[in-house]
Amino acid sequence: MIATKDPYPPIEDRYVSLLWAEIEMAEDLAIMHVQLFDPAWDANAFRDLLAESGTSALIAKVRLCELGTPVPVGFAIGRVAADEAEVLTIGVTEPFQRRGIGAKLANGLLRAVNSAGAKCLFREVAADNAAASGLYQSLGFAETGRRKGYYNRREGVAADALILSLDLARKP
Ligand SMILES: CC(C)(COP(=O)(O)OP(=O)(O)OC[C@H]1O[C@@H](n2cnc3c(N)ncnc32)[C@H](O)[C@@H]1OP(=O)(O)O)[C@@H](O)C(=O)NCCC(=O)NCCS
Repeated sequence: MIATKDPYPPIEDRYVSLLWAEIEMAEDLAIMHVQLFDPAWDANAFRDLLAESGTSALIAKVRLCELGTPVPVGFAIGRVAADEAEVLTIGVTEPFQRRGIGAKLANGLLRAVNSAGAKCLFREVAADNAAASGLYQSLGFAETGRRKGYYNRREGVAADALILSLDLARKP
């Protein structure tokens, strides 16, 4: 059982499940996406994406108590083309962040695109997105390019885009 006093209690592995995201889960994906991204992708966008042949998509669910119904808390979606893959989107809803779920999703996606034939995985990330940069770094991604001032920020300060890549053949 997860203690209620601590707003960020650790989540035991047995409460977390990773599932293949099916088209019927498009609404769940859209509900999570809008909490994390602007612009957000709607359910139709997810339906189209999940219908594409090169798409690998995972959803993370957590049971909040022993007999609870698993609730969706995160997702990771990638696309494989020939021997390369790209992380299209990854996110974990805020109350469940920093509990290892993003890492579980990312590792699941690595395995999925690797078995679909990808030899390397790419992702572009804003240099000021500490959480995402930290996640990719922890997985062994290396910076292979940088677009200066690529992202406009509300305050008028632009953020660089980092091009990150991971050689899946060298990943243990
Ligand atoms: C990025 C994101 C998916 C990480 O998910 P998460 O479940 O919180 O990540 P995890 O708990 O699995 O953390 C794995 C590692 O990532 C890094 N990390 C995660 N959050 C971090 C933060 N806020 N600051 C710095 N590093 C962070 C750490 O290295 C962490 O390992 P550690 O906990 O052992 O230090 C989540 O913060 C998120 O959904 N952010 C908003 C959407 C987004 O920016 N997506 C990425 C677009 S490129």
